[in-house]
Amino acid sequence: MLETIAGAQVARTPAEVRAWTATMRAAGKRTALVPTMGALHAGHMTLVDTARQHAGAVLVSIFVNPMQFGPKEDFSAYPRPFENDCALCAAKGVDLIYAPTPATMYPPGFQSHVEVEQLTQGLCGAARPTHFRGVTTVVMKLLNIALADVAVFGEKDYQQLQTLKRMALDLDHPTAILGAPIAREPDGLAMSSRNVYLSAAERQAAPAIVQSLRAAQARVRAGERDAARLVAEMSAAQSAAGGRIDYVQIVDPQTLQPLEMLERSARVIVATWFGRARLLDNMDLLI
Ligand code: PAF
Repeated sequence: MLETIAGAQVARTPAEVRAWTATMRAAGKRTALVPTMGALHAGHMTLVDTARQHAGAVLVSIFVNPMQFGPKEDFSAYPRPFENDCALCAAKGVDLIYAPTPATMYPPGFQSHVEVEQLTQGLCGAARPTHFRGVTTVVMKLLNIALADVAVFGEKDYQQLQTLKRMALDLDHPTAILGAPIAREPDGLAMSSRNVYLSAAERQAAPAIVQSLRAAQARVRAGERDAARLVAEMSAAQSAAGGRIDYVQIVDPQTLQPLEMLERSARVIVATWFGRARLLDNMDLLI
């Protein structure tokens, strides 16, 4: 039986989700899955908007996936305002929430994983070696449970999006993987559930990330093509604002391999710490 929480319908088991998907399909509706870890904000709501453009029925999953956190990462501290998430989904007209427990997702004896080998090696994968295996495993499970026509992921996690597209292609999953543009605060900071970790001073300083990316874009428009020079400039600007850089890299948008010179297309991808928040951002440089 589906529960109703803060006005939203909530499924707790794969069987409930599959029954819902079958009902929607029988009613002639396309379905869209928006996987999340909760702590929903306006950025997630733009994913729901994208989902709505492609489907008559939208399912949001809320699951803080232990498998994608490293031993020293913020799994237990990760915000879990579940009732508020349900209320936001209800107000947005989300048709169903899927909120499994860790024991439902990973019952005793669980031992199967999905790995995308090359795309996950660098960037976030360098500092978080087990992260993407956790993401691909949980997303493959969610895709298999939902059997939706499309699934929507934010471009803020650009490496994750490229990895999931590759996974669905390689493993012949019929759900189309769609990206949605980065949602930004008025001052440009990319929206993220981890922004709540920022102190007032860090919150004021953090837009230095997007400002440095925009400055790089302008330098490329003016003719700069040397990746090392651009990376040095972005890194200096972020450090000057108090950021602790994990990486700033200019890569090929499909292979995610580092570029030396910018030629056809290029994407800058950044992970920088402000206080205890590790913030991600990225941007097309040659547009
Ligand atoms: O991007 C996220 O919030 C998570 O990595 C995802 C895709 C929901 C998998 O847990």
